[in-house]
Amino acid sequence: MKVAKHGGNIYEAAMERGIAIEEILDFSANINPLGIPNSLKEALIQNIHSIERYPDPDYKALVGAIAAYHGVNEQWITVGNGATEIIFALAASLNSKNSLILAPTFAEYERALLKAGSEVHYYYLKEDNDFQIDEGFKKMLNPEIDLVVLCNPNNPTGQFLNRQKMMEILQQCRVFGIRLVVDEAFMDFVEAGEEESMIACMEEYNHLYVIRALTKFFSIPGLRLGYAVASNENILRRIRDNREPWSINSLAALAGEVVLKDQAYIRETKDWLHKEKNKFYEELNAIEGIKAYKPEANYIFFSYNKDERCLKEALLTKKILIRSCGNYKNLTNRFYRIAIKDRSSNEKLIEALKEVIYES
Ligand SMILES: Cc1ncc(COP(=O)(O)O)c(C=O)c1O
Repeated sequence: MKVAKHGGNIYEAAMERGIAIEEILDFSANINPLGIPNSLKEALIQNIHSIERYPDPDYKALVGAIAAYHGVNEQWITVGNGATEIIFALAASLNSKNSLILAPTFAEYERALLKAGSEVHYYYLKEDNDFQIDEGFKKMLNPEIDLVVLCNPNNPTGQFLNRQKMMEILQQCRVFGIRLVVDEAFMDFVEAGEEESMIACMEEYNHLYVIRALTKFFSIPGLRLGYAVASNENILRRIRDNREPWSINSLAALAGEVVLKDQAYIRETKDWLHKEKNKFYEELNAIEGIKAYKPEANYIFFSYNKDERCLKEALLTKKILIRSCGNYKNLTNRFYRIAIKDRSSNEKLIEALKEVIYES
């Protein structure tokens, strides 16, 4: 099975151009520009010797910290080496025959479900409906389908379903005996995200599985940490029984315990995004040929419709990397995704885009 191409591959971009990674301004991976929380930096330095021991195979302290953060039962949590490990472990444990995912969506769902032997069906989001999940989606739900995956917000389109809309889908899934996986990897970035999260609905719905990532919000994609929350303890036990031991290293486990308590960092991130999100979106939308989709999280999806030019290639000559979405199912080379970064970086991208589009 081929490895999917993702954003964040600055290594490839730097090597192709013979430049250092540090020279590239990377908008292709959606990582919090505030960087590693100071609380975590200190904890990592102070606890560096923890790597001389094996991690706790049950990750009790980490699980306890996540359970306390969400106010849920510890038994409902399983942790992974990034959300990606959870995606593959969950797909392997759910034994789906026929699954339904969005097109486009995060590519690892298709890979994980195919690997687990599921036939993957797609709901093709429509450009003329701004890639929203519309009523047509519910018509795809039927007793033949046994598993639905929804990324909320969706990646790369950024479209978002509030809890009320997600509840309607959850209820309909229950009628047909369909399990619902909601990937909330970017939910921490959504304003009032915890009010919209489906984690609060766990108790009543044991066909619901929520996946979360700490990699993006806390700027630790290289450390890797994610988890699933579900009240179906049988499936969670199956995941734990099937997993390889110690897949999360000691420092990543410690990171989870530390960052979820760092209220100052969480507040600072929300304040930065609140200030930057709409401004950046409006600046982008004002450029001729660009249609940007209103962001809910920390990235913006847009199309470029003026000519056939590849904006990714053009921007790379200025050492700026954006995510071309041409390799997503149901998208073409006209579509791009960019991370929202700090003001000065965002200004650089806007200026570079204007030069590329207006001055050639
Ligand atoms: C929707 C979604 N889920 C999960 C992941 C994977 O997250 P992690 O880096 O924690 O494995 C990504 C990464 O981009 C994503 O977009």
